[in-house]
Amino acid sequence: MKKRILFVCLGNICRSPSAEAVFKAQVAQAGLSPDFEIDSAGTGAWHVGKPADRRMQQHARKRGYDLTSIARKFDPSVDFDHFDMIIAMDDENVRDLKQLARNEQDQLKISKMTDFSKLYNYKIVPDPYYGGEEGFELVLDLLEDASEGLLEKLK
Ligand code: 4NP
Repeated sequence: MKKRILFVCLGNICRSPSAEAVFKAQVAQAGLSPDFEIDSAGTGAWHVGKPADRRMQQHARKRGYDLTSIARKFDPSVDFDHFDMIIAMDDENVRDLKQLARNEQDQLKISKMTDFSKLYNYKIVPDPYYGGEEGFELVLDLLEDASEGLLEKLK
């Protein structure tokens, strides 16, 4: 059975599209692409239909990641059933997802990306949207590290 993983942030234009690309790349590197379905979504609807933030795309590109996803809103009536793991970027995302959960089974699917960190001690992947360039680099550093931890856990 495929493992179905959904990464979730607020806008689905910075952090979760990057998480999707980084994790897909690591899964491909491990030769495990057929075993996974990997997607991302946002809790907010402001950017629905838009490509990833240009700054995020540029920083990701420098590390070899193409951010191709188009923003969509998390849909509790579909996504809680379809995905095995719903992985949030910060505590606000977790809170929003928990409020949307329909039952205990939905609740149990929700986790936070930094729970899988290996090297970093951050408790969240901080929102880079209103900050400087270094915020986008930090997002990628945290995601590369936590993706490794996630993949090790799932292998
Ligand atoms: P993301 O970043 O949640 O990582 O996609 C954000 C993108 C847009 C906004 C906030 C965060 N916004 O307020 O429009």
